[in-house]
Amino acid sequence: MSTETTMRTHTCGELRAADVGKQVALCGWVANRRDHGNLIFIDLRDRYGLTQCVFDPALAAEAHNLAERVRGEWSLQVQGRVRLRPEGLANPKMPTGEIEVEVTGLAVLNESAVPPFEIDADKEVSEDLRLKYRYLDLRRPQMLNALVMRSRLIKAMRDFYDREGFIDVETPFLTKSTPEGARDYIVPSRVNPGLFFALPQSPQLFKQILMVAGFDRYYQVARCMRDEDLRADRQPEFTQLDVEMSYVAQDDVIATTERMLAHVFKTVLGRDLPLPLPRMTYDEAMDKYGHDAPDIRFGLHLVNATDIAGETDFRVFKLAIEAGGQVRGLCVKGGASFSRKEIDDLTPFVATFGAKGVAWVKVEEAALTGAAAKFFPDALGQRLRERFQAAPGDLILMVADQPAIVFKSLGQLRLMLGQKLGLIPAGVFAFTWVVDFPSFDWDPEERRYVAMHHPFTAPQDQFLEALPAGPLTATTPDPAILGIKAKAYDVVLNGTELGGGSIRIHRPDVQSRVFNLLGIAEESARVKFGFLLDALKFGAPPHGGIALGLDRCVMLLLGLPSIRDTIAFPKTQRAICLMTNAPGPVDERQLRELHIRLAPEIQGEKK
Ligand code: AMO
Repeated sequence: MSTETTMRTHTCGELRAADVGKQVALCGWVANRRDHGNLIFIDLRDRYGLTQCVFDPALAAEAHNLAERVRGEWSLQVQGRVRLRPEGLANPKMPTGEIEVEVTGLAVLNESAVPPFEIDADKEVSEDLRLKYRYLDLRRPQMLNALVMRSRLIKAMRDFYDREGFIDVETPFLTKSTPEGARDYIVPSRVNPGLFFALPQSPQLFKQILMVAGFDRYYQVARCMRDEDLRADRQPEFTQLDVEMSYVAQDDVIATTERMLAHVFKTVLGRDLPLPLPRMTYDEAMDKYGHDAPDIRFGLHLVNATDIAGETDFRVFKLAIEAGGQVRGLCVKGGASFSRKEIDDLTPFVATFGAKGVAWVKVEEAALTGAAAKFFPDALGQRLRERFQAAPGDLILMVADQPAIVFKSLGQLRLMLGQKLGLIPAGVFAFTWVVDFPSFDWDPEERRYVAMHHPFTAPQDQFLEALPAGPLTATTPDPAILGIKAKAYDVVLNGTELGGGSIRIHRPDVQSRVFNLLGIAEESARVKFGFLLDALKFGAPPHGGIALGLDRCVMLLLGLPSIRDTIAFPKTQRAICLMTNAPGPVDERQLRELHIRLAPEIQGEKK
């Protein structure tokens, strides 16, 4: 690597004892400046590190004078000679800590305004301030490191796919809607008044078309845009490592993805990733973890106690079960020491996930105690203990409701307790595949089936017969249809969905039946995805693929709290860029050209 330029001989992270005596020129920012009366010390910082520069008036009076005026984050060029630091003053914590540069010439390249926060201090800085002054935030070593690692990770991924014969193809930004379950960002077309492009939620349709075009193996580091509610692991604009392969079954896509992950782990983290990665079915993930992206770093598994609860006289349990619900719970080891307040606080927690409350019993040597204990007399109590494998000192927590609410609330309760009780080991990367996802879910509000992954996902072969061919009239879900499993798979790391994919439908007749089931009328399917349906008619090969959230990969590999810390210029939870202030208003003229008029109440707000 050569970083030498006409302005510098070395970087600020480069000089060592072996360089003593060399004449050097360094460029960088003032990380800190210490004025010891006679001598002035400046630590000069660039991307590569820090070097201590000493200004001695006896050696270079002019440079020393100038150095008196210099302040933090000024941009400097220094010239001088490398020397060993005096006896006992070496700093073993700094890679350049053995040496210093005795300055003979100084040029101020640019002065700096007083920065709104200290770059080198470990102090907490509000995220809004960091995002507004992102260029200063990115000077901070932790941010720089995240982006350097991101770059290495992408390089490792590209190397892997290139070596395996994949072709990197770019797909359009200005396109039609791709149904990934979020709202589209739309762009008006000036030359086609009243018509809009949609920004891609993923390259899904194009990568399938590339398989029809015979590319056989495609990958892309692809930007995706989704207008959805944001969280720590979601951005409106994010990056996928997107892959598609022809003539493959699920195991081929899984095996290739695993080998890529192992390559990335080895190259970027220097760690071995033992393969194959574990797999579990969707049903098992829900049953044990209440979540389709299970955090398998700790136990605290969900337990089904619907049968036992149904035999009690507890009205809450009985009513829930009569209404088709279930009773499941968690056994918190040693949880009998929870205070009444700690237990009461669980109710508002589960309420945010729709549950009405938590029924609890403490397990003691002789008996069960606590709010729900009276409903579990002798034999029932004994069965409850056995079902939860509870020992004296444990706490059993139960939720009774419709399955979706039971899973959601207990799944989240498990994660919260895992954190609270310190059950989650640090420094562990616990991958799992989740396979055998259902093809369809039921949307109770809209009273229709929706695709669990996306509408192009192939059902497993043995379920093809179960796909109705004719019109659908049902207003309640048919268990036979909800039981259809898909050739769909997710890869999960430490409880976060890292990626998801599927084997696609390559036969137009199967695709039509799936659209029919999803209530996508033939005409509407033609308008939305006619090009894909047409393409499938031209000898489309069986194909499948996957997309991994790249920002999430970096976040999890580096143990960062948010994907915002992996993106150079991210948006806030309100989908705003605080540095550029995007989104912003546009001129009246631009709107006129686009044939767009703002609603009067919005126009008022803008003034
Ligand atoms: P899916 O919608 O599951 O699949 O997305 C794949 C992966 O992308 C990441 N991801 C996100 N990351 C940050 N912010 C977001 N808003 C966001 N949304 C998704 C997740 C997720 O696992 N076309 C299919 C893939 C396929 O079938 O091949 C797709 O996009 O890590």
